Amino acid sequence: MKAIHIPSYAADPSTLSPSELPTPTPKGDEYLVRITHCSPQHADILHAQGKHQNNNAKRGWCFPPFVLGYDFAGVVHSLPSSASAELKKGDRVFGAAIGAFAEFVCVKGSAIRKIPDGLSNETACAMSGQAVSYASVVHIAKVQPGEIVMVSGASGGLGSVCCMVAKAVGAKVIALAGDEEKAGSMRQNMDVDAVILMKEGTDWMKKVMNFTNGTGVDVVLDNTGMVDDAIKCLAYFGRIVILGFAARKGIMEAVHMNKLLLKSITVIGYRFGESGRRFPDELQRIWNGYLGMLQDGRLKPLLYGRYDGLEDVGRALGDLAARKVSGKIVVKVAGEEEVARL
Ligand SMILES: NC(=O)c1ccc[n+]([C@@H]2O[C@H](COP(=O)([O-])OP(=O)(O)OC[C@H]3O[C@@H](n4cnc5c(N)ncnc54)[C@H](OP(=O)(O)O)[C@@H]3O)[C@@H](O)[C@H]2O)c1
Repeated sequence: MKAIHIPSYAADPSTLSPSELPTPTPKGDEYLVRITHCSPQHADILHAQGKHQNNNAKRGWCFPPFVLGYDFAGVVHSLPSSASAELKKGDRVFGAAIGAFAEFVCVKGSAIRKIPDGLSNETACAMSGQAVSYASVVHIAKVQPGEIVMVSGASGGLGSVCCMVAKAVGAKVIALAGDEEKAGSMRQNMDVDAVILMKEGTDWMKKVMNFTNGTGVDVVLDNTGMVDDAIKCLAYFGRIVILGFAARKGIMEAVHMNKLLLKSITVIGYRFGESGRRFPDELQRIWNGYLGMLQDGRLKPLLYGRYDGLEDVGRALGDLAARKVSGKIVVKVAGEEEVARL
């Protein structure tokens, strides 16, 4: 099969191209999935470079040699003997597993879900990693109708869906944009109440405070690593959910704790994957709610560009690293004819 193989960490993931590898053989409890689509994300860049917390000797993920990739959609090619009654050969599935930038991937049943009728593989792939956004709004921040929610990295995969979910639960949403062009495209394509361009200095914060009539926002969903700035924009008793550090280039912030006390602020870190492994019943509730919003059309992926074949994964990672992307990239892995036959 073709796959994006990482024999050693790659300083510039935009240069990656597919190699020929043996099709993987599933272990006793694994499904073999023929991948039709994959969706590169920020974490894939860090995985490829060896800069992610999962490139960790104790946990042992993503050590060269490995196949890159995480979010995918595809079709069940073979089943383990212990297969659940819910999945059969030929079912369309989506999920996340290291090794998804390939034509085939081996996964445990817990890593895949059936694609609901009415959703295409492309849509499912684009949304496969975004249950974290739903969970952060509904289960972690517990956003209430009428609250004001500010989202950093709002053009990104997680951020764009954070905005959609917050709107769906009746909040007012301020989306933060990194540059003029993205701000323009967000104003056109996203249903939010304000798009504010984050520029050097504090002018953008004044715009946030003006939007809230000087009170500050109730909730910040932070995808980029901006807790100090978030505190300045928050109302008394405000909440911050820390989702990611896309802007920090691996250097974490130091925050003065007295600033939290002065505004009675709650900061919550949220690690979706680990939380799901520890609390599977809660994970199921999250997926039920998330899929419900997807199926009734309240959540729709914001697709970016056109990427055809595993040959385009390097370009996709380059575009992500260059911050060109608004929404989600989906790379078509299987050709139209094959998808039609699957
Ligand atoms: N908590 C969890 O369980 C969990 C799960 C998955 C991912 N994550 C993390 O969440 C973060 C967001 O993930 P994502 O998949 O949404 O990423 P993404 O699609 O690449 O989006 C990140 C957004 O951050 C903004 N950004 C600001 N400075 C940036 C910089 N220097 N480099 C790149 N982007 C920058 C970009 O918007 P502008 O250019 O408009 O500023 C971009 O749209 C990542 O740190 C990821 O590792 C966390």
